[in-house]
Amino acid sequence: MRNLLPFLVLIAVASAFGNIQTQFDGPDEVELRLLEPAVVPDPVDGVSRWWYTPSRKAHIYRHKYPKNIQAQPRQGEDLRLPGDVLPRLYNVRLLPFIEVGNWTTDGYVEIFLDCIISTVNISMNSLDLTIDPASITVTEEQTGNPISVVDFIDEQSTREIITIQVSRPLTAGKQYKITMKFISILNALLAGFYRSSYVENGVTKYLAVTQFEATDARRSFPCFDEPTMKANFTVTVGRKETWTSVSNMPLITTEPIVGMPGFVWDNYQTSVTMSSYLVAFMVSEFIGIPAEPGLSNVEFSIWARPEARNLTDYARNIGPRILEFFESYYNIDYPLPKQDMAAIPDFAAGAMENWGLITYREEYLLIDPNRATARAVQLAAVVSAHELAHQWFGNLVTMDWWNALWLNEGFASYMEYIGTDAVEPDFKMNDQFIIENLQYVFGIDALETSRPINIEVNTPAEINSMFDAISYEKGSCVIRMCADIIGLETFQRGLTRYLSDNAYGNAGQDNLWAALQTQADSENVILPATVKEIMDTWTFKMGFPYVTVNRNYQTGGAVVIQNRFLLRKSNDTTDPTVYQWWLPLTYTSDYTQTKRRDWLSVDEFSKSLPNLGAAANQWVIFNVDQQNYYRVAYDPTNYGLIRDQLIADHQRVSANNRAQLLDDAFNLALTELIPYADALDLTLYLKYEREYVPWHAVLSELNYVDIMLYNFAEFSNWKTHMTSLVEPYYNFIGFQETQSDPHLTKYCRIDAMNWACRLGVADCVQNSLSTYATLMSQPDNLAQIVSPNEKSTILRTAIEYGGQAEYDFAFNQYKTKSDTSFLVAMCASKQATVLSGLLEMLLDPTSGILRLDVNTVFNNVANNPIGNEIALDFLINRWDDIQNALGSVYFATWYRYVCTRQNTQAGLDKLIQLRDAHSVILGNSNSVKQGIQTVESNIQWVSLNLGEIGTWLAGNQPAKTISNVIRH
Ligand SMILES: *[C@@H]1O[C@H](CO)[C@@H](O)[C@H](O)[C@H]1NC(C)=O
Ligand SMILES: *[C@@H]1O[C@H](CO)[C@@H](O)[C@H](O)[C@H]1NC(C)=O
Ligand SMILES: *[C@@H]1O[C@H](CO)[C@@H](O)[C@H](O)[C@H]1NC(C)=O
Ligand SMILES: [Zn+2]
Repeated sequence: MRNLLPFLVLIAVASAFGNIQTQFDGPDEVELRLLEPAVVPDPVDGVSRWWYTPSRKAHIYRHKYPKNIQAQPRQGEDLRLPGDVLPRLYNVRLLPFIEVGNWTTDGYVEIFLDCIISTVNISMNSLDLTIDPASITVTEEQTGNPISVVDFIDEQSTREIITIQVSRPLTAGKQYKITMKFISILNALLAGFYRSSYVENGVTKYLAVTQFEATDARRSFPCFDEPTMKANFTVTVGRKETWTSVSNMPLITTEPIVGMPGFVWDNYQTSVTMSSYLVAFMVSEFIGIPAEPGLSNVEFSIWARPEARNLTDYARNIGPRILEFFESYYNIDYPLPKQDMAAIPDFAAGAMENWGLITYREEYLLIDPNRATARAVQLAAVVSAHELAHQWFGNLVTMDWWNALWLNEGFASYMEYIGTDAVEPDFKMNDQFIIENLQYVFGIDALETSRPINIEVNTPAEINSMFDAISYEKGSCVIRMCADIIGLETFQRGLTRYLSDNAYGNAGQDNLWAALQTQADSENVILPATVKEIMDTWTFKMGFPYVTVNRNYQTGGAVVIQNRFLLRKSNDTTDPTVYQWWLPLTYTSDYTQTKRRDWLSVDEFSKSLPNLGAAANQWVIFNVDQQNYYRVAYDPTNYGLIRDQLIADHQRVSANNRAQLLDDAFNLALTELIPYADALDLTLYLKYEREYVPWHAVLSELNYVDIMLYNFAEFSNWKTHMTSLVEPYYNFIGFQETQSDPHLTKYCRIDAMNWACRLGVADCVQNSLSTYATLMSQPDNLAQIVSPNEKSTILRTAIEYGGQAEYDFAFNQYKTKSDTSFLVAMCASKQATVLSGLLEMLLDPTSGILRLDVNTVFNNVANNPIGNEIALDFLINRWDDIQNALGSVYFATWYRYVCTRQNTQAGLDKLIQLRDAHSVILGNSNSVKQGIQTVESNIQWVSLNLGEIGTWLAGNQPAKTISNVIRH
């Protein structure tokens, strides 16, 4: 058993957070950016939480937030608005001053209310606003009669609520207008109406922009900041004449601000009815570039820094096409007259779906076709599709409270595949789903610390914690499963029904299940229970099952059993939940036939299937194409039949199921549910595998075995085995990338090269060295000489196999071009003296390694098999020097980095001694606890599996096996 971390490569954030990075002191400086997902301790507060990486998914919510942005949880206090008055229309007028020393925003708001229940108290949300109590007016709309305000109760700092008390009760059924003036400060928290900056021709330029989801509209103007309290919004923003502004709706008029020469008001059209978290505006010196004409009926523009104009072409092309596609997919017109997308230099999330004005982190909207990796281009398309999908799912129909956030995010995370596929079929997005979303979230949802998709949340901190892999990725998997259960087309028509029935309103998951049920009934789709009964088991229980299939080869039937899949079981669990689900069984022995279906009901632990429709010598595969959210374990005979089929002709099994078989088998072996030999048997066919998805699925699993075996004698046979699998893949793909390579071929090459060079395959090493030599002679032609997709492997391999000259060149490139990939490559050296030299440089501010990059260096050295022990000794021996040079902020994180590869009792003893010697700093850290747990798991893994794997490897050396197998 182990936790997920051995799969990870942790690297530090270098430039992604731009100048925000330097604005906070203390532990915030240590920022983790994961190449793979994991539960890791938050360096800010030591609490474990899920982290996502921009390199992986778009909707990373707040990697970087300053400490004070989340108030203390305030369970028990009433933070909800009473609902006795509801907003109908807001007129918001804001005049931000955007200059150093004056970040004031003058604000004025008029709110038109319906009184639902008679009251003298008008409560609404507000945070960090300076409200002028004397400016507050309340009038009855119909008569225009003023109602005097008797009290103003300011609870912004505790409940984020203000209350206006009036002299006589408002009457139910009547309408009122409230006005008030206030001042806010453009903050640096990336929340509310905030300031951002960028450098142009050496000059720092500022802009003001919004990020309101989940609960930060209240930082910009007083409002009813709950998703059901929808209203129309009329936005007016002031700006310098020479600047620009943009908002959800089209601009109607611009007029001078009286008494302020050089300033103008931009008046925007009144919005449709929407939730406050979707309001957006921006004041900047950006330019708006119209999308390519003719791609959509909706006016569409991309906003960016003027210097980035040339990087908007990709967005200008795909944006309108995706919008056009969703109109036809949902069968509902996009309801606004225009759509803008803006690239923001400092942005907390990946992107935000504000209706009509989608905001993005720059890296997801601005693409340089000559320098972008295939991955970056795909991410840009996926993020756009995600946000555009929200314009219906989320904006037109909004979840009724944040407990159902998954309805927004799970759907957008499902639709991003469909939307991207419509404009970039070459990306084969639907093939990628299982590795990007499903197998990824399995890793998180297999922990006891997971959570159900739908849980009660109240405080802003709880609400913000919902923006995680469970809402997004698990949500998308559950939706994909539901679509498979009722049929894709029925499902699509059911969605249209749900969206039209609830347009401009709110809905919970029961409304969705009801719409899908009605649709399924009307099309005579037969299910064993209602859609709600089935789907509730997946949304209200955490975790997921594995299904054990025990075939009876005499009768042709099988017994199937459902159990919860856990990576680690604690002994003291008190959770009374019965972990059984309404489980859709699908299976096949022949992909040219329609798949067979059956069910395990939520009450059935096991069930006997009388006839699988397969002969005793035929394999059976369950969870066809991994459409459903569970793993499958087979009896040894069936594993043998599958292995033989894969070796004889793997194309008889779908690529998704090949990926699933490998991913499932290694995870089941890891948790001791099947022998490692069964999992390793499945790898034998990989010498014939040429497709990205199965390879990518298995490589991360093999990586763990690789790390664990590294220091043992068995590693030699392991390396031979791995080389026999990877080399044919690498030879098939080849070193040289060409323009015409399909997208996934580029992805294949990244994996194949990475492993081939790591295993020392001569062609890969030679080509990397000679490419690097060319680069050394023409250092300014990096983009022409090295494909961005191959860059990290080529640089790393040149350092690993090259000498001093290669190393010196890399260091020089890092120093002169601020390109951290050269620094990362330097950490791949196989020379102990070089690696310890790198660590020493961290202590010397004049060494040339920037303070910003010290975490990257330590992490990469610790992850280097040669460097791991060196890094541990550096921590032990140079503790005081590290503390003097860098303070204490890195210790716990670095401790954790070192643990990943440690798997011996001697190592554990050393680590525990280190912890106890510095108990003040390390004693209570969650990183340290998690690190020690990892090492303990690693040691246990070695004691349980090393022998078995060693025996298997000895018996399966390439010369002795499948070379005599005939391929069909
Ligand atoms: C900010 O600048 C504006 C315009 O120059 C000025 O009217 C206002 O008083 C300034 N506010 C502060 C707090 O300096
Ligand atoms: C508010 O939005 C709705 C559409 O949601 C629209 O029909 C209505 O006219 C808008 N109200 C105003 C005052 O613009
Ligand atoms: C953008 O591209 C145009 C035409 O290719 C070129 O003339 C211009 O210099 C480029 N601008 C920037 C800022 O790179
Ligand atoms: Zn989203």
